[in-house]
Amino acid sequence: FHHHLDENIRPYIDLIDTLRSVGVQNEVSLPTIVVIGDQSSGKSSVLEALSGVALPRGSGIVTRCPLELRLRKVTGVKWKAVLTYRSVKSRPDKQGNNLKTFEFEDSSIVEKHVTDAQNELAGKGVGICDDLITLEVMSKDVCDLTLIDLPGIVRVPVAGQPEDVGDQIKRLIMKYIMKRETINLVVVPCNIDIATTEALRMAQNVDPEGIRTVAILTKPDLIDKGTEKGILKVVQNKVIHLRKGYTMVKCRGQQQINDRITLEEALEEEKEFFQNHDTFRCLLSENKATIKCLAVKLTKDLVDHIKNSLQRVDDQVKKLLWDVKNELKECEGGPPQDPKGAKQFLIKTIKKFNDIVTSMSSGELMLNENL
Ligand code: GDP
Ligand code: NA
Ligand code: MG
Repeated sequence: FHHHLDENIRPYIDLIDTLRSVGVQNEVSLPTIVVIGDQSSGKSSVLEALSGVALPRGSGIVTRCPLELRLRKVTGVKWKAVLTYRSVKSRPDKQGNNLKTFEFEDSSIVEKHVTDAQNELAGKGVGICDDLITLEVMSKDVCDLTLIDLPGIVRVPVAGQPEDVGDQIKRLIMKYIMKRETINLVVVPCNIDIATTEALRMAQNVDPEGIRTVAILTKPDLIDKGTEKGILKVVQNKVIHLRKGYTMVKCRGQQQINDRITLEEALEEEKEFFQNHDTFRCLLSENKATIKCLAVKLTKDLVDHIKNSLQRVDDQVKKLLWDVKNELKECEGGPPQDPKGAKQFLIKTIKKFNDIVTSMSSGELMLNENL
């Protein structure tokens, strides 16, 4: 699938993932790709096609929590996935962790696990939430990429959704796309007027120079007859100019899913679709069409972006370290040497110890916060 990729990309992506897995992302912004667009524009379908993993998708609100998809190309092992999220139901353990982790080797149960996690975090139904679910996929057939799927933009709440669900979703999207470390992947269906696309407008607002905005046009098979030439101009970057340009992809439609077309077969069909399309055929040789082409482009974009962001990440980590060291200074030299100071130190320490014992016996495990 991606043999012709630069072998040197992996260390960069691993570095960022390592930082993320030790929890630095709460304090430090890490380079990543975020997928945004209207509800049902095809975001999850694009991710699914890139990862080879069937995700919850379809009409209505399906993606209700941010889903981080870490794709790792690993040779010589069986397909494997690990799903993690911070449980809101179970109590933290002694280390203060409430991480739930599921490991599985059957790709057909990914969808169910993601749905279960969403139900726990966002409640059953149509609510959304900010908590991140992480799905790491290790396989010989994926590219090295980390992407985050976000709930789609909606204008009118459906039954059971709060009146301001549209604003809630936009706020969630903003939280991710405003960071300079994020590449914003804007998904727009071909049968929608791109000029009216809210997601593109949001991306342009936070990135007026278009340094970190990439657009994807989906559903070319559902295009209104007669509008092909206009869409072609968009993809060729002649209408709304984006520095990083456009890619057109065709994913599985509902009918193909009902017919149990596999993701691999869908890639084959995509190629045939473009080869046989009178207007869009030329996009193949221009490297502006197909999932395959998108995967190569995104990996390159992400690595470039990581390289450009490393200095800023380094600065942020240093500042964080400095703050922590300052906080630690109080304890660093042990108790003060003068008698008065030593006495106060002792009282403080005993009081702290006492507080811990009290909270433990009252059943609240606050050990970590107190120590
Ligand atoms: P999301 O809400 O943006 O994540 O959108 P989904 O990925 O869930 O897709 C919404 C619907 O559009 C699903 O029924 C998909 O099967 C369908 N879909 C996505 N991409 C294409 C495409 O390229 N062609 C067709 N015909 N249908 C598509
Ligand atoms: Na959807
Ligand atoms: Mg989705």
